[in-house]
Amino acid sequence: MQKKILVTGGTGYIGSHTVVELQENGYETIIVDNLSNSQIEVLDGIAGITGIRPSFENLDLCDLEKLRDCCHSYSGIKAIVHFAALKAVGESVEKPLEYYSNNLVSLMNLLQVMQEFNIPCLVFSSSCTVYGQPDRLPVTEDTPVKPASSPYGNTKQISEEIIRDTVAAVSGLKAISLRYFNPIGAHRSALIGELPLGTPLNLIPYITQTVIGVRDHLRVFGNDYDTPDGSGIRDYIYVVDLARAHVKAIERLLEDKGEQAYEVFNLGTGKGLSVFEIVKTFEKATGQQVHYKIYPRRPGDIARVYADTTLANKVLGWKAGTPLEDTLLSAWNWEKYIRGRMNH
Ligand code: NAD
Ligand code: WQD
Repeated sequence: MQKKILVTGGTGYIGSHTVVELQENGYETIIVDNLSNSQIEVLDGIAGITGIRPSFENLDLCDLEKLRDCCHSYSGIKAIVHFAALKAVGESVEKPLEYYSNNLVSLMNLLQVMQEFNIPCLVFSSSCTVYGQPDRLPVTEDTPVKPASSPYGNTKQISEEIIRDTVAAVSGLKAISLRYFNPIGAHRSALIGELPLGTPLNLIPYITQTVIGVRDHLRVFGNDYDTPDGSGIRDYIYVVDLARAHVKAIERLLEDKGEQAYEVFNLGTGKGLSVFEIVKTFEKATGQQVHYKIYPRRPGDIARVYADTTLANKVLGWKAGTPLEDTLLSAWNWEKYIRGRMNH
């Protein structure tokens, strides 16, 4: 019988790609999402790729009673992958209570139903934002967590602590937190991808929208950082490689391979790339020119961060292997697909 996995935020960007990978590895998936930052049509995209339409429950994880009803109607859930969260750093500074309430109450409700319904395993979406600007690079999991620079980042730090404490207190519970670096790209089918609402905050959707003509030019935030070409350096990881790491984490939890009940892994490529390197590689991969202008540094940005992924390589048996050109091409193909869809 297929093992049932509950995926919160499963119609979102990373969640939808993970549902595809889980289904392709023989798992049955149940998506819980309130569609606050995603669209129901994502289910068509998933079904188009895998041939299977996942079960879907439209509910707010902050509603404990409805979450209980959901767990009741799908008995035998083996694990939860918890993506659902609000994620806009700037917005979290303006609406801290919304972020604390949504991101923390939903997590606590999940940990509650895990105990009530004997669901033993949790995979949690954390972020490299917990490291701030680290003193040493690359960043290992032992790098000290810095005071959060935004309420969003703080919800990730507090969430990790809530999970660690709960797992320590409740026998039989196990969890893995995955600290993502910068997820980018879309499924090669171009049937699912990132759907930023309004003006994109992240680099890659801003580039693709500029090239397709929705934005006039890319604003490069700073060319005076202490980096080889002066622009900011990040560790950009293909979303499908990232999704595959979740399958590895689920396998590890279900097969009871870990010696510790709570583990943390960095998920990145291990390579730092500058904004200009991304622009150049995008141009090479797509044959399109990216118009850009230099702007002042974006407040709150750090100069550089990239992961040491040795632990995930060794322990999860996972490595991000997709070439950057393929990843950037997938982002471009997705942009063309959604613009085409909007124009019809
Ligand atoms: P996303 O916004 O595309 O997906 C999140 C989904 O959660 C959305 O579909 C939204 O509707 C849903 N959701 C939010 N609150 C909910 C609630 N209370 N009840 C039910 N559903 C709810 O975001 P994403 O980029 O796929 O990110 C997934 C996770 O990964 C988030 O936890 C995010 O913080 C984390 N993360 C993302 C990035 C990134 O750059 N995208 C980087 C590091 C960590
Ligand atoms: C990447 C680089 C920018 C846009 C954010 C969140 C972080 C995490 C991942 C969730 C930087 C530059 C960007 C643009 C630019 N999310 N840039 N012009 O800031 O590393 O991380 O997403 O956990 O918490 O803060 O990603 O894609 O916004 O920026 O020059 O229009 O591109 O300055 O150097 P970031 P990003």
